[in-house]
Amino acid sequence: MSTSTRMKNLGLPALVVLVLLIVFGAVFLFELLSFTPDGAGGGVVTADSYRAELVALPDVTDIGHGEALFESYGCAACHDSAASTGVAPSMTGISERAGERRPPLPADAYLYESVVHPADYLVESYSNVMPQNFRDRMTDQELADVIAYLQTR
Ligand code: HEC
Repeated sequence: MSTSTRMKNLGLPALVVLVLLIVFGAVFLFELLSFTPDGAGGGVVTADSYRAELVALPDVTDIGHGEALFESYGCAACHDSAASTGVAPSMTGISERAGERRPPLPADAYLYESVVHPADYLVESYSNVMPQNFRDRMTDQELADVIAYLQTR
C-alpha cells in the first residue's frame, strides 16, 4: 500500500472524528456558558433585600384568607398533600426555619423570595418545579396574606 492510499483511507474516519469533536465542543461550550449553579440565580442577598418590596405590601393582613389562598393557588397540593412524597418541602415549622434558610435574609424576606422568585434559592435536595409566576397572578393583598399565613405555620 503506497503512502498516498493510506492517507486516503484515513480521510473518512478523520473527518468523522473532526465533526464529532466540533459537535461535542459546541455542546460543551453551550453548557458552560448557560450554566448557573442551583440557588445562585438571585446572587448575594443582604438583610435588606426585598425590604422595599415588603414595605410596599399592605400592612393589614388576613391569615384566614392566606390559608384559603394557600389552597386555591395550589400551594397545599405540593406543600401539604404531596410533601411526604418528596415533591416539595413540608410547611410545618416554616415560620421557624424561614429566618435561617438563607442568612442574612430575615423570615419575611425569605418567604417573599420563595414565592416571588422560587428559582433564586432552592431548598437542598428539591428541584426547581415551583411555578415561577405567582407574583403575576397574586394581588399585593393576596401575597401579603399568604406570607402572613406562612408565618403562623
Ligand atoms: C408544583 C409544586 C409547588 C407548588 C404548586 C408550590 N410550591 Fe412552593 N416549593 C416547591 C418546591 C419543590 C420547593 C423547594 C425548591 C425551592 O426552593 O424552590 C418550594 C419551596 C417553597 C418555599 C420555601 C420552603 C422552605 O422550606 O424553605 C416556600 C415558602 C414556598 N415554596 C411557598 C409556596 C407557596 C406560598 C405556594 C403557592 C402560592 C407554593 N409554594 C406553590 C413546590 C411547589
